[in-house]
Amino acid sequence: MAQEVRGVIAPGKNEPVRVETVVVPDPGPGEAVVKIQACGVCHTDLHYKQGGINDDFPFLLGHEAAGIVESVGDGVTDVAPGDFVILNWRAVCGQCRACLRGRPWYCFNTHNAKQRMTLTDGTELSPALGIGAFAEKTLVAAGQCTKVDPAVSPAVAGLLGCGVMAGIGAAINTGNVGRGDSVAVIGCGGVGDAAIAGSRLAGAAKIIAVDIDDRKLTTAREIGATHTVNSRETDPVEAIRELTGGFGADVVIEAVGRPETYQQAFYARDLAGTVVLVGVPTPDMKLDLPLIDVFGRGGALKSSWYGDCLPSRDFPMLIDLHLQGRLDLGAFVSETIALDEVEAAFERMHHGDVLRSVVVL
Ligand code: APR
Ligand code: ZN
Ligand code: ZN
Repeated sequence: MAQEVRGVIAPGKNEPVRVETVVVPDPGPGEAVVKIQACGVCHTDLHYKQGGINDDFPFLLGHEAAGIVESVGDGVTDVAPGDFVILNWRAVCGQCRACLRGRPWYCFNTHNAKQRMTLTDGTELSPALGIGAFAEKTLVAAGQCTKVDPAVSPAVAGLLGCGVMAGIGAAINTGNVGRGDSVAVIGCGGVGDAAIAGSRLAGAAKIIAVDIDDRKLTTAREIGATHTVNSRETDPVEAIRELTGGFGADVVIEAVGRPETYQQAFYARDLAGTVVLVGVPTPDMKLDLPLIDVFGRGGALKSSWYGDCLPSRDFPMLIDLHLQGRLDLGAFVSETIALDEVEAAFERMHHGDVLRSVVVL
């Protein structure tokens, strides 16, 4: 029997979001219905609302979530009703060329639930990133559910489902930050701060936080930055070089997604160092770099998709480290809010007032 729940809908381009009744079908083969306990508010939700992702309105927003599996469809063996899970938006297929080569974090054929959730009049909803978790319950592919230790608070756990994983993974997976490395992180929002936390976890000796907002630099220091640079006042490339013996950082993580900050990252790394782009640019942006510098400076220029994470490997491990007190994921939760406060949370996010607002159900 399909069930009716409350969920946050983006009805049309730039229209305010509103809580509506959502019809959630019973899980079909390979699917699961999850009772949502918490879901963070991410920039991508705002981009959906603004029509910046695609025009498939109405959207069911929300995708950084944790909850309890309520029911599963035929053939589901990895999760069972009652399991505490974090939802991921890259359920790997196991069969594409990346998976077959043993690199499932690059999976080129990730999947979502086959059935659609609807409004009560039958209008099909597009769940944000195939999740749609600003809702009491949601329907996903079972592979989107990753079991973790239920001792963790759901509000904290959900954040690993997107931005925080992207940042931590940019450092530990894509950037391969290691003991003793110097790291610079440009842009210290939720993603950049998570990259700082990841670099600290990996044993980086020096972590330089760069932002244009002093409030962000204060938080970055609390999370683990050893040095801060306000790039509105100081040339960040010069500053990072000065802080690294004149050479540049071993790994520079760009967590803004703009050509000028990418260029800073490119020149702020040491010879043979690594640049990781985890900030997401818009399609109109162009990069203009002397090709001789791309060659001459060597090293690696990498992009980080979802922190190049493998949810089944990374989510349980990071939750365990958090529970042991070695990774303070709680620092990323600025406030908890109710389902009908998402629109106001977008406003606060837009003004840079919060790292993450988290809807708690
Ligand atoms: N130089 C340095 N920092 C900047 C600059 C700049 N030119 N412009 C903006 N910033 C800072 C902001 O002050 C803010 O602290 O970058 C940070 C961006 O943080 P958020 O807006 O909170 O975004 P976040 O959720 O961290 O995501 C960052 O990663 O996943 C992507 O789509 C996401 O592109 C976005 C990026
Ligand atoms: Zn695959
Ligand atoms: Zn997100």
